[in-house]
Amino acid sequence: MKHWRIFFLAALIAGGLSISAFVTSCSTLNRTIAVAPEIPGASFIGNKACLDCHAVQGKNFHGSIHQRVSVDHSKVAGGTSCESCHGPGSLHAQGGGGRGKSIHNPGKDSDSCMSCHVEIHAELRLPHHHPVLEKKMNCVQCHDPHGSDIHKTSGNLSMARMNQECAACHRDQARQFLFEHEALREGCTVCHSPHGSINQKMLVERDNNLCLKCHAQVHSGSGDIYIGATIHTSWIKRGNCWSSGCHSAVHGSNIDTHLRY
Ligand code: HEC
Ligand code: HEC
Ligand code: HEC
Ligand code: HEC
Ligand code: HEC
Ligand code: HEC
Ligand code: HEC
Repeated sequence: MKHWRIFFLAALIAGGLSISAFVTSCSTLNRTIAVAPEIPGASFIGNKACLDCHAVQGKNFHGSIHQRVSVDHSKVAGGTSCESCHGPGSLHAQGGGGRGKSIHNPGKDSDSCMSCHVEIHAELRLPHHHPVLEKKMNCVQCHDPHGSDIHKTSGNLSMARMNQECAACHRDQARQFLFEHEALREGCTVCHSPHGSINQKMLVERDNNLCLKCHAQVHSGSGDIYIGATIHTSWIKRGNCWSSGCHSAVHGSNIDTHLRY
């Protein structure tokens, strides 16, 4: 289990609400985290109250990791997980709810996710990354905040679903090919880091090791290097498996089984 660290956030202004840091802890997960939107004058009322009016968001929330996150200084029965992202809801509920009524809607604001997920913030600052910090996209495009499976893109469902989520923006790589590359059945993240990477194209490895973790490189008695049934001795000196005009169609090919354009 990763260790969650305590940290403090400078006050931010988002959506007209001031967000400042509370120190919270999550006893079930046994780690301390920081949180959350502040709503002046409001106190925590607990999930049950929210669910009375918002059954839709509660539908798949049960059993999710975020359901187990609570705000430490409010010992409300049933937990305060909704409010860990939305802020204390007493004023909102007393007023009968409503849009813009004393509640924080993180919406497209990924900063509120990163107030807890500092390590993701760090990944998004690596040289090659999805442009979340640049505000061109946000966490919720890949993660469903109310899902039991917060990973819109993977989780316990099939990898095909992850590829579909990525395909929403990267149709070319996820489309059907005459000659598929079976690697894609394991999902795009066998080769790409979803948040960011030090490598070009957000690859998990920058060299042939990317491919060799599935395709064994065998040294024959005569000093030749085989990959699959083919001698690769002179080819692998030319560069990466996917460059040098070799297997350049890594996502699949309509030309031949060797993954070429
Ligand atoms: C008395 C009923 C009621 C209760 C209790 C209630 N809400 Fe609401 N809430 C509403 C209504 C009605 C809306 C407006 C929905 C709409 O317009 O579609 C709303 C809107 C919201 C929004 C969207 C706000 C925006 O500006 O876009 C959020 C987020 C929200 N509620 C979260 C919560 C949370 C978290 C709790 C528990 C702390 C809670 N609500 C408790 C009735 C309630
Ligand atoms: C991990 C953070 C997180 C948690 C926990 C969370 N929400 Fe949300 N909620 C969000 C985000 C992000 C949005 C905006 C989603 C979007 O714009 O697609 C949102 C939007 C909403 C909305 C507005 C939906 C609309 O029509 O615009 C309501 C209502 C709401 N949440 C209620 C709840 C309730 C009730 C709970 C607890 C059962 C809960 N949320 C738990 C992050 C969270
Ligand atoms: C109040 C703190 C807090 C906030 C705010 C928060 N999270 Fe989390 N989140 C956690 C904790 C704690 C975990 C479990 C520990 C972990 O996986 O690192 C977690 C886990 C996750 C996971 C991994 C789930 C899994 O199955 O492994 C994802 C994805 C995630 N959060 C996305 C989000 C997104 C997107 C938002 C904003 C809408 C958000 N979180 C807001 C505390 C938070
Ligand atoms: C381009 C899609 C995408 C975006 C944008 C994105 N994520 Fe993820 N995230 C993923 C995928 C896919 C995984 C699963 C990685 C895996 O299984 O190897 C993941 C995993 C996670 C995890 C689990 C821990 C980990 O590192 O595997 C957390 C927490 C998380 N994301 C939070 C966030 C937060 C917070 C944001 C916004 C600041 C965000 N993500 C933006 C796709 C995305
Ligand atoms: C909401 C749209 C969206 C989703 C969903 C999305 N991406 Fe992206 N992706 C982008 C954008 C925008 C860029 C940056 C393009 C640029 O800077 O030219 C990008 C860049 C990339 C790059 C680097 C491209 C390059 O030329 O350097 C890779 C690889 C990538 N995404 C893979 C993925 C994977 C894998 C997933 C699913 C886990 C995914 N993306 C989901 C929008 C998305
Ligand atoms: C077997 C490893 C592997 C898998 C699996 C994989 N990719 Fe890639 N991807 C690569 C390599 C290698 C490159 C770099 C190609 C280059 O530089 O010529 C790349 C490049 C990209 C790019 C940049 C544009 C381009 O074509 O050069 C995007 C976007 C991308 N991949 C998206 C995806 C998506 C979406 C998935 C899942 C549907 C996926 N990839 C699965 C290896 C993979
Ligand atoms: C997650 C495992 C995995 C990764 C990573 C992977 N592959 Fe594959 N690849 C497969 C599987 C499985 C097959 C189909 C069985 C076979 O032919 O070995 C395949 C088939 C191929 C084939 C077709 C072989 C033929 O002629 O029939 C080529 C070429 C290939 N991969 C190249 C690559 C390259 C280049 C990379 C790195 C960018 C790569 N693979 C990364 C799993 C993987």
